[in-house]
Amino acid sequence: MQVVGYTTQQHVFIASRKRKFNINEILVIEDDRHNNPKGEVIETQSFNRFVPLSTEKNALVDEKVLQGLRQVGFSIDEEEINLAKVRLLEELSSPVKVGVSARLPVFEEVENLFLKKRPEEGLVLGVIQGTAEIASTLPEDLRNVAPLYQKDQGILPQDGFPFIFDYAEMDSYPHIGIFGGSGSGKSYGLRVFLEEIMIKEIPTIVFDPHYEMDFSQTASGFEDKVVDFKSRFVTLMAGKDVGIDFTELSPDDLVGILKASGGNISEAMDNAVRSIFEPQKDTLASFTNRLSSLIDAFDNETEIKRLKNSDNWSKLDVREKKRYEYLEELLLKYKDKVGHASTLKGIAWRLNKLQREGIFTKDISEIENSLQQRKLVVVRGSIWLLKVFAGFIAKKLYNKRRAYRDALHTGKTGETGFPPFIIVTDEAHNFAPTGFDAPAKGVFKEIAQEGRKYGVFLILATQRPSLLDDTITAQLNTKLVFRTVRSTDIHTIKEETDITSEEGARLPYLSSGTAFISSAILGRTIAVRIRAARTTSPHSQNPFDELQEWAGNGDDKLWSVLEDYLPLSGDQIHLYHDEIQKKLEEPVDVNKIFTLLEEMESQGKVKKEDTPFGPSYHKV
Ligand SMILES: Nc1ncnc2c1ncn2[C@@H]1O[C@H](COP(=O)(O)OP(=O)(O)OP(=O)(O)O)[C@@H](O)[C@H]1O
Ligand SMILES: [Mg+2]
Repeated sequence: MQVVGYTTQQHVFIASRKRKFNINEILVIEDDRHNNPKGEVIETQSFNRFVPLSTEKNALVDEKVLQGLRQVGFSIDEEEINLAKVRLLEELSSPVKVGVSARLPVFEEVENLFLKKRPEEGLVLGVIQGTAEIASTLPEDLRNVAPLYQKDQGILPQDGFPFIFDYAEMDSYPHIGIFGGSGSGKSYGLRVFLEEIMIKEIPTIVFDPHYEMDFSQTASGFEDKVVDFKSRFVTLMAGKDVGIDFTELSPDDLVGILKASGGNISEAMDNAVRSIFEPQKDTLASFTNRLSSLIDAFDNETEIKRLKNSDNWSKLDVREKKRYEYLEELLLKYKDKVGHASTLKGIAWRLNKLQREGIFTKDISEIENSLQQRKLVVVRGSIWLLKVFAGFIAKKLYNKRRAYRDALHTGKTGETGFPPFIIVTDEAHNFAPTGFDAPAKGVFKEIAQEGRKYGVFLILATQRPSLLDDTITAQLNTKLVFRTVRSTDIHTIKEETDITSEEGARLPYLSSGTAFISSAILGRTIAVRIRAARTTSPHSQNPFDELQEWAGNGDDKLWSVLEDYLPLSGDQIHLYHDEIQKKLEEPVDVNKIFTLLEEMESQGKVKKEDTPFGPSYHKV
């Protein structure tokens, strides 16, 4: 390998007759004068008799390069020439000498470039691209720590240097963004991140709108080296296992969650909530009572006035009188501030929706306890519900941590200890969108800007970085950028990272699971193949394989359970549903049971009778 053509302080071209270059590999340029500088292959191409170089028009080769090749003795168009454009890792004071040779480095020469930490001190995320050929120089403790996965081949050995993320550096460079289009490997990468976080027992809360972050199932290929994550994470359902304690809401919180529950709320509603709600005093019951009484008062305003001035007033019993007087009082107090009954009804409707979701029936103590035990907490729920929750929870936990840290600083005692923690969410642009308001946006922004001081960090994944609030994007000091096709997103990524134009041009073509990691911690961008996940997502099955099972084995198993229950009426199917699921050892939909019985009837295996209470299925 030899330096050819013109060289600059930043770039050189290197050519070789025999060796094909690999993108992203590091080469040592044997130029004593510059202390043998290192460079990274950023573009490469091979030419031979069939793909002649001189007729090839491309960005890599121009007349100057051709001339350079001739100068050092290459016979263009006759022999095979492999050519690489190499970016020097440090800017030199003068250009590299043309004609000097280049070689692959050994481990010690690049250790500092790639490895800030050993596996036990960092998060092992994947394999650095372009290091395959020098992997044989790796010391023992760095081998086989990051096996890879290929869909049709299963688990493959680690073929290069491991990429180990130095999480201790998050103290200076706190937040992480994970960007990439659909199917590019974000969720898979997030899973790997979270596995490592659990191994290191870093308290973390994950908002999981896709119900995909479960770590109890070991991925195939890892059966002989299972890491048991079951004791390191908990899954909680928003509205069932965790909720919002109404008495802790501020007016802003309440307005925020009402907004999230119903698209948006009018300014009148916003004002009305703020005037009616009595923070710290109101319980859910007292607030809803006041709200419905006020609606009642608005709806019956004239009636109440007439009644009070009529003879019938004296005939009312004490309780009724009290009630009307209370309504009158409410009108007097709030009428000017509220305006219309419809405003109040809009609030009541939204509050009712939240109540039905069970939001106010629990608190977040289970989240707090689990974080204190250094666990990973996965909070699940529909995206709108999580949007409501994320804001409230993030704020509470952040304040708790802040209060604790401030108390430590000022020497105050009595504040209960609360650990540093990480907040993780997929679909982050929904939680903190650019140009719109959202319940979590304020607190996410605050954490993005101030969280470092208190040891509170963000990991935000999104398909659409251009839709994520830009002050937050600017604070994401480490970015994992997966395949991205949309030009607006590529534009944002280029602006927000130190990705070069060559890397930017590769973004649409990255294979799923390969990312550019651009980090202030590393000071440059490194291409990484994310390692194989040790666990699998509950719905990682190919939907078409799943269909196969539906029609095949699944049915046989279900049928063998159902047979024992015949005859079955519709009511009985509902009645025995739980029991059937237990025997089956997996969930099954009631409709699925009906469908199977219908199918069996068409095959003549059961007899169906229509009764006034619905169908009933019998043995034949
Ligand atoms: N590091 C990896 N190694 C091997 N295969 C991977 C890797 N990352 C992703 N894949 C494959 O690509 C598929 C899609 O990845 P993933 O679900 O992470 O996409 P995504 O970016 O989250 O997409 P979406 O935005 O649609 O949720 C995975 O199911 C897996 O088969
Ligand atoms: Mg995903």
